Amino acid sequence: MKQISDFEEYKTVYAHAIANPEVFWEDKAAEFHWFKKWDKTLKWNFTEPSIKWFDGGYTNLCYNCIDRHLEIRGNQTAIIWEPNDPKTPSRLITYNELHKEVCCFANVLKDVGVKKGDRVCIYMPMVPEGAIAMLACARIGAIHNVVFGGFSAKSLADRINDCGCTLLITADAVFRGDKKIELKQIADEAMADLTVISSPQQNGAIKAIVFNNRNEPVTMQAGRDFWWHELLETASSDCLAEPMEAEDPLFILYTSGSTGKPKGVLHTTGGYMVYAGYTFNEVFRPQSGHEIFWCTADIGWITGHSYLVYGPLLNGVTTVLFEGIPNWPDPGRFWEVVDKHQVNIFYTAPTAIRALEAQGTKWFEGKKLDSLRVLGSVGEPINEEAWEWYHKNVGKGNCPIVDTWWQTETGGILISPLAGITPLKPAYATLPIPGVQAVLLNERGEEISGNNVEGNLCMKFPWPGMARTVYGDHERFKNIYYSTYPGYYFTGDGCKRDADGYYRITGRVDDVINVSGHRIGTGEIEDALNEHPAIVESAVVGFPHDIKGQGIFAFVICNAKIDNASILTTEAQKLVFEKIGAFARPDRIVVVPGLPKTRSGKIMRRILRKIAEGDTSNLGDTTTLLDPSIVDIIKHKAAELSETL
Ligand code: WTA
Repeated sequence: MKQISDFEEYKTVYAHAIANPEVFWEDKAAEFHWFKKWDKTLKWNFTEPSIKWFDGGYTNLCYNCIDRHLEIRGNQTAIIWEPNDPKTPSRLITYNELHKEVCCFANVLKDVGVKKGDRVCIYMPMVPEGAIAMLACARIGAIHNVVFGGFSAKSLADRINDCGCTLLITADAVFRGDKKIELKQIADEAMADLTVISSPQQNGAIKAIVFNNRNEPVTMQAGRDFWWHELLETASSDCLAEPMEAEDPLFILYTSGSTGKPKGVLHTTGGYMVYAGYTFNEVFRPQSGHEIFWCTADIGWITGHSYLVYGPLLNGVTTVLFEGIPNWPDPGRFWEVVDKHQVNIFYTAPTAIRALEAQGTKWFEGKKLDSLRVLGSVGEPINEEAWEWYHKNVGKGNCPIVDTWWQTETGGILISPLAGITPLKPAYATLPIPGVQAVLLNERGEEISGNNVEGNLCMKFPWPGMARTVYGDHERFKNIYYSTYPGYYFTGDGCKRDADGYYRITGRVDDVINVSGHRIGTGEIEDALNEHPAIVESAVVGFPHDIKGQGIFAFVICNAKIDNASILTTEAQKLVFEKIGAFARPDRIVVVPGLPKTRSGKIMRRILRKIAEGDTSNLGDTTTLLDPSIVDIIKHKAAELSETL
């Protein structure tokens, strides 16, 4: 694929893409294989909203990721699997082998009754079979719903119920570091908890395919659960890729928002494919197609979808899939893997960088890291110190860092340097990539022009990778993203534009917190906490955390005097673990007699945020509170808690 060659060209192409968006995107789409060319490049309005890209065209994402490359790269490695335990051998899968495995598994899916348009839940560890399952779904037109392996049975069941999955693909168990996670057992619990299965053909039943990852004992329910390897025995390796309409759904991925339960963000086939392929190529700039790219994200998050599986494979590069964690068996593991597989492009999250930074530089001893050419960061704002550390110690001062800003809803990167092209500025996502029209809006919804300004980040024009709806609830989709500022897509992020026109994301302006790069709605945590028999009401806010970026601070009102706050804390944390997952556990829980509420009963989170940050010198105007005296009491309780920590 073509790449922009210098910063001057970036500016020209950027202007061209604004002036002629359809021509610009037709050119990008033409890089891929289409069974039938589209009739209309773009039809859109942000009021319904309705967005259609490449309408009338037929393509297949899996075909474009694999089949299209076979002639020239059949024997090139497509996936390098690096296991959790460094003593276990790696697995290298060529494009030819991947083709065979995906075709066989696509036939397995058909054999168990999966048809085009059916929803398939993938609850898998970081093994190639996770990616194979995704690609096989895309091949036959089934809609995948990947659920991160760190979610609890309850969260898994909610997601299966919400989009009516008829099949669950999982594994017996996985080790992450020295910790075992019994996925099948969690899946069993989830399957026992299913209420809604929408497919009448399935008669309310769900089937499960279980990949034997660890030889761990599991209970298999006859007629419902099937072993992956047994089903494969009779599967043919012949499977044509289903021609899919550009706007046919490709996948659903659940993500958290300000209010309510997580929503199933829906992406469609043609636009997502073009966008994932284009952004991967232009931002990371793989050379010659023989490069080794490593994205450390889990396939359960959007980054794993767009830049671990689809983006790299669309570009015919080799993608590394790592089962382990950064600090096991020691904090040098990432660097050992970079050297072992001669990784050229490395893409990770600021939280991992900060966690490794805290371990000191001795873990670089004996590591060369000289294969690295480009570094990337994603998921949360990267602070300047972490940026410098990453640049100096990992990149040895020679590798550009692409600080990529984007979201589950955007499908791919919107604001980022193009590696080696855009002049960098630590902690800045820099500039929108060509084809993206970013604006900052003020409270009144007016565009803020000029530089040295700050506002809410919005998009004023569609791009192919954007989400089309929230599964089963288009009204909600409209309300969340298109109602705050009519005529714009609202990201939920605050942003500065500096004197050079460079963008710096300042963080969420809504009730979403970003813990270690994982998005969680404060409401979800509150709902879980409120199920504790002693907790009457709770309010959760984020606070700055050295490693995680944001930590979780919960203020809870109890129905009786609590004698032992530490027992309550342990129980409440366990509850959140069971209802959502380990990553959503509050770091701090403080029992308070009341919350700062306005006369209309709204909690003033601004005040709680300040208290959680430990910055109580100026809490702003508290006169509109029903009971302003509660603020001092909460301040006092929070201070007591921090003394005990
Ligand atoms: C935040 C992850 C600053 C942001 C791809 C966004 C970032 C949310 C960056 C989306 C970045 C992501 N700099 N903040 N480079 N990248 N974010 O849906 O708040 O898991 O709205 O998608 O992460 O998180 P999500």
